[in-house]
Amino acid sequence: MDFKWDSKYLINVKMLDQQHQELFRLLNRLYELPNNIDCEKKLAEILKNLLDYTVQHLSLEESMMQKYSYQGFERHFGEHQKFRQEIKQQTALIDSRELNIFDLIVFIQDWLTSHIQYSDHKLGLFLNAKGID
Ligand SMILES: [Fe+2]
Ligand SMILES: [Fe+2]
Repeated sequence: MDFKWDSKYLINVKMLDQQHQELFRLLNRLYELPNNIDCEKKLAEILKNLLDYTVQHLSLEESMMQKYSYQGFERHFGEHQKFRQEIKQQTALIDSRELNIFDLIVFIQDWLTSHIQYSDHKLGLFLNAKGID
């Protein structure tokens, strides 16, 4: 699976860009693990780190949006909310073995890449205009 960080994902807000890069790094660690039973524990551990880090990241964006009274807050927050709910449901399905862990990883990757390029990008432009970079 080719999943490389690219400058097209930069939103020009240093702290958020660093976090996005860390999310890519964690996702890549998941892909690098061989898909076998011995790695299941390791996989679950990295996935948990990724999910925890993602939740923290979404909260940081939300607090920045609120701090600077971002007009697109509700829409952006709604996207985060939907993502958190989806993650919760999919994690439950993995626990009950109804879903493969890689389906969730692919879902996170797809969501992140499109969300960063569209919604986070818009937020970046707004924050830049407020003098945050
Ligand atoms: Fe983000
Ligand atoms: Fe976001």
